[in-house]
Amino acid sequence: MARTALLNVMVQAATKAGRSLVRDFGEVENLQVSRKGPGDFVSAADRRAEEIVRTELTRARPTFGLVMEESGEVEGTDGQHRWHIDPLDGTTNFLHGIPIFAISIALERAGQVVAGVIYNPVMDELYTAERGRGAFVNDRRLRVAGRSELPDMVIGTGLPMIGKGDHGRALKELRYFMPEVAGIRRCGAASLDLAWTAAGRLDGYWEHNLNSWDLAAGILMVKEAGGYVSDAEGKESMLTSGDVVAGNEFAHKHMLRLIKKAAE
Ligand code: IPD
Ligand code: CA
Ligand code: CA
Ligand code: CA
Repeated sequence: MARTALLNVMVQAATKAGRSLVRDFGEVENLQVSRKGPGDFVSAADRRAEEIVRTELTRARPTFGLVMEESGEVEGTDGQHRWHIDPLDGTTNFLHGIPIFAISIALERAGQVVAGVIYNPVMDELYTAERGRGAFVNDRRLRVAGRSELPDMVIGTGLPMIGKGDHGRALKELRYFMPEVAGIRRCGAASLDLAWTAAGRLDGYWEHNLNSWDLAAGILMVKEAGGYVSDAEGKESMLTSGDVVAGNEFAHKHMLRLIKKAAE
């Protein structure tokens, strides 16, 4: 399916930022790494990629608002459109030489996410989705996994870093999930966890305490690949609560059940 002009703008921004990240990957001693909080790193690579994405998007659509992980929010003048930008999702992986990281860009129109792009420049995998038009990786249509039994499923998650989130809850949830599933993965980039769920690599994925820039593009990706996405209570508040549970119909249902049990 031909991409719309807006999606092309997002793809252009993500691939350009991807080239910058690839140049910086492995150059950690030159990246002025600092901490925003315990375990929460930021580097020149994050900032450079964000600047590229911001410049590309603003040049193409100067009236749209921006929600950026590193530079904060910029209100738009058109009041309808906002980009959600994670210039480097998986900073910890990136700084440790682990090639699982991505640029994530979503477009919100009148409160609804209508387009998303997630790009892993090392694997050269470009994930795109537009509302009502399907999800793709490098032009191949995506479909969530078809498995229906938990013991066959590989489920992704994210664990809270030092000093952040609810470690007790994470441990409790793992205790309920581990005996029921084939395996659990902690890949380290929320946008890719969602893209890989859309692609059927992961049967499902859940995490808490994320931000709109981590989630918005990937949620659309999973939905457009035929999957189910909600917050931890089965509701739609993912972008405001930061909680996400995603997968095919069966995975999603079972995951909500296990998360509920762990909370009792
Ligand atoms: C992080 C990653 C990670 C998730 C963290 C996020 P960042 O994003 O997506 O997988 O567990 O909660 O903050 O900081 O690398 O963009
Ligand atoms: Ca970060
Ligand atoms: Ca992120
Ligand atoms: Ca980031």
